[in-house]
Amino acid sequence: PQEELRELEELAVSVAAEAARFVVGSRAAELEVTTKSSDVDIVTVMDARSQELLGRRLREARPADGFFGEEGGADAAAAGATSGLTWVVDPIDGTVNYLYGFPQYAVSVALVECDPTTPGGWRPIAGAVADAVAGSVHHARLGGGAWTREPDGTEAPLHVSDATALATSLVGTGFGYDAAKRGRQARALVEVLPRVRDIRRGGSAALDLCHVAAGRLDGYYEMGINPWDMAAGWIVLTEAGGSCTGAEGAPPSTDCVVAAAPGIREALTGLVDEVVLIVRND
Ligand code: IPD
Repeated sequence: PQEELRELEELAVSVAAEAARFVVGSRAAELEVTTKSSDVDIVTVMDARSQELLGRRLREARPADGFFGEEGGADAAAAGATSGLTWVVDPIDGTVNYLYGFPQYAVSVALVECDPTTPGGWRPIAGAVADAVAGSVHHARLGGGAWTREPDGTEAPLHVSDATALATSLVGTGFGYDAAKRGRQARALVEVLPRVRDIRRGGSAALDLCHVAAGRLDGYYEMGINPWDMAAGWIVLTEAGGSCTGAEGAPPSTDCVVAAAPGIREALTGLVDEVVLIVRND
């Protein structure tokens, strides 16, 4: 029911915002400590602490739900879950930006439903992406539209752009940190860049999806992405009128995600399909 889903969306917003305040607020002090002790990495430390906070809050509020985060946690998810719902969280999405203080990092919290009848098996039903530096939270639930909540509590609806041509579209992308995938991602970029207005690599997949939702990007694609990077952004995007798919007509997956405003959906998914074939045969 919508009322219950609205409460779950609100829970996602409040825990994502709390964790975002925590990671931003601790950054300066933590950087000082971790740069002194060379074997400790601020990203590892803060990712783990942020996830611990998210896990604690979500388990208190929803003990029957599963919990799955970037920093391990899949076992805990399997152990506790009886509701058929799982929280999928990225405690800091855009970890390299966080390390450098480049202002594009977020906390992503999604509630996903397992659906064994769907290829891919799961879909988000509510989610929140807290833009840590801006202090705003992009959020959505199935059927409720997509919204940005500003730090003063005001809400504004999100809508995708009215782009109609790929050649004049601004397209985001991302590159996973796995060295094995980087060559393929670079090869894909060689094909895409000449066909679009320009490319952006923001460094946070969750925010990239929200940028498409807000019309600040016309589309986005990434080959080789994690479920926690995309789960909350996916529902924000689709509720804002965008499409979120995979390659070759498949649902979005860790292999490939293509996000698009409706006017360029066909062209962008077609281009990514071409690229997937080229890269696969290389
Ligand atoms: C990464 C970011 C990046 C994307 C990578 C992700 P992380 O997430 O979302 O934009 O290109 O694929 O792994 O590691 O910073 O949480």
